[in-house]
Amino acid sequence: MKCYKAKDYKEMGRKAANIISAQIIMKPDCVLGLATGATPIGIYEQLIEWYRKSDLDFSEVITVNLDEYRGLPRSNEQSYYYFMRKNLFDHINILPENTHIPNGMEEDSEKACRDYSNIIRQIGGVDLQLLGLGHNGHIGFNEPDDAFEKEVHCVNLTESTIMANARYFSSQEEVPTKAYTMGIKTIMQARKIVVVVSGADKADILKEAFFGPVTPHIPASILQMHNDVIIVADEAAIEKVSDLI
Ligand code: F6R
Repeated sequence: MKCYKAKDYKEMGRKAANIISAQIIMKPDCVLGLATGATPIGIYEQLIEWYRKSDLDFSEVITVNLDEYRGLPRSNEQSYYYFMRKNLFDHINILPENTHIPNGMEEDSEKACRDYSNIIRQIGGVDLQLLGLGHNGHIGFNEPDDAFEKEVHCVNLTESTIMANARYFSSQEEVPTKAYTMGIKTIMQARKIVVVVSGADKADILKEAFFGPVTPHIPASILQMHNDVIIVADEAAIEKVSDLI
């Protein structure tokens, strides 16, 4: 496990974007596993900037996203499909058919998960998986549990997640109660993993996840067992482990 320290959120984004762009330059048809959330937005901005300067070409790149809400149409601004278009895909020369996100509108959960697992297999697995870190140690929608959920699966969102999401929706009925997500095994099969962490509010969980025991109660802790993980964190997030790295 390598740990790269960045001065602030912007520098964290630039460092992580550098690793992703090195991957694209070395393997132009690479498979990138992507994440949504606040942390990667700066990375996507940086990648767009380099694309505009003709330093990056996404024409052969393939992407697979970690997760998607079940029951949200792609046109819904809270869908991860919408997020990815808005924050990255609409601004670069990636082919729409090369971008993959679980089909949130597939009501048959088993089919949705099976189809997504097949896509990941067919494209040859993930070369580089980008991950954010949840405050409770979740990665993707893999929440703390008594065992690691392995494959792509459908998650029942916890009451607190549903409550937290409610502010983004116009009515309570619209708030999704389920999501499709890559499982822990799916994530661990990525050849390289980059975890981005920003902010003082993530300092405790960063320490627990990467410098504490491996446990399904902190899903990200399993990443300690992967042989190619890079953590890119800003000073605020890394503060509690600066003597350990
Ligand atoms: C996003 C995802 C989540 C986030 C995590 C951190 O696709 O799967 O696990 O990475 O919740 O979110 P932020 O970056 O908003 O703190």
